[in-house]
Amino acid sequence: MSQISGFSKLSKPEKIDWLEEHYLSDYPSAKRIIKQYWNSDEKLQKLHDEFTENTISNYYLPLGIAPNFSIDGDLYAIPMAIEESSVIAAASKAAKFWLDKGGFKTKVIGTTKVGHVHFNFKGEPKDLEAFFESNKSKFLTETASITKNMEKRGGGIKDIVLIDKTNELDNYYQLYCTFETVDAMGANFINSCLEQFGQTLEKEATTYEAFATRAIYPEVIMCILSNYVPECLVRAEVSCPVSQLGETEKEAQEFAKKFSQAIRIAEIEPYRAVTHNKGIMNGIDAVVLATGNDFRAIEAGVHAYAARNGQYSSLTHVTVKEDVFRFWIELPLALGTIGGLTSLHPLVKLSLGALGHPSAEKLMKITAVAGLAQNFAAVNSLVTTGIQKGHMKMHLMNILNQFEANEEERNKAVDYFKTHTVTHSEVIQLLEKLRS
Ligand code: MEV
Repeated sequence: MSQISGFSKLSKPEKIDWLEEHYLSDYPSAKRIIKQYWNSDEKLQKLHDEFTENTISNYYLPLGIAPNFSIDGDLYAIPMAIEESSVIAAASKAAKFWLDKGGFKTKVIGTTKVGHVHFNFKGEPKDLEAFFESNKSKFLTETASITKNMEKRGGGIKDIVLIDKTNELDNYYQLYCTFETVDAMGANFINSCLEQFGQTLEKEATTYEAFATRAIYPEVIMCILSNYVPECLVRAEVSCPVSQLGETEKEAQEFAKKFSQAIRIAEIEPYRAVTHNKGIMNGIDAVVLATGNDFRAIEAGVHAYAARNGQYSSLTHVTVKEDVFRFWIELPLALGTIGGLTSLHPLVKLSLGALGHPSAEKLMKITAVAGLAQNFAAVNSLVTTGIQKGHMKMHLMNILNQFEANEEERNKAVDYFKTHTVTHSEVIQLLEKLRS
């Protein structure tokens, strides 16, 4: 173990040498593996190196395609970046299932994004309110150079509201600011506006008489966007007559009943809701990653939304009324299709291209659909065959790779497990048999 200063100043080979010497000395193939993942196209490698800091190699995730998604009447093949087996297969299966049943219908409910100037003020609340009212327009004029381009695209600052939070925390106030960022995720735009608001607040306060007489001024603590965006909301749904849910009327009714009960359980039981929503995020994150968006921001915002009523709950809901099965998801998704990685990463550009260069609203819809499809597939398996059957089938290749099965062994194993249940030990036994 070793401490170092100036690590970021070392060249890439120097960083790798240092890592190898201090942390990987008992890992003889370390350098080979690190370099194995470098791209032979130096320009492309440099691009990836510069996405972040202290880069030594690339970390691959598979990029797959889930085809046959009918969304508001148009057909999509959805790119998904994810390492977990079964996820893309499950999405594709759900897409196919709903294809001839009207497909997915979507609606963007809102696109408002949020940020705050968090500040302290120890003086009279009414003085602060009067100050805010008389200076509100300055917050807008002093951000004019930042908002100019965004306004040209139809976005900008929507509102700034002073909020008294002193009941919850001594002296704590906020400027609660809302934004429209159109096709951009807008983090840089929002944070730049907020930092300017913070400066304007402190600057204008210095010359405000009511503050000066008491020598009490607002003190900015921080200016930052919120990843909780309950008004940047999208809904996706599917529906069909109950009879279409099974081969026979009895099977269809039984499925609708069990499926609905599974959703109710996720609505009232947080233990189940977390796993239920995790399955939804398998689909959401995969699209978010493939399209170059910030999956940590999406995750944080979605889970906060799932707990908005005080208890963590399901993001999906179902009704069965007059023999119609209706299943939907509603969740906040602050996504962008311009700026950031979307114009830099070649595979992100390709993914957005495959989706027909969607607007941010369209991408919200597609992503919500991927989450709903994922949940339908998971709950479908859970209330019928269980998930292990399909999951282990998909996992077979991983197990075969782990034991370095050759082409012939793979083919024989795939053949064998068409009629046998895949378990880890069964695969090992079969390989041992084939190898003896
Ligand atoms: C596994 O990644 C996701 C599931 O557990 C989701 C669920 O239980 O609904 C299958």
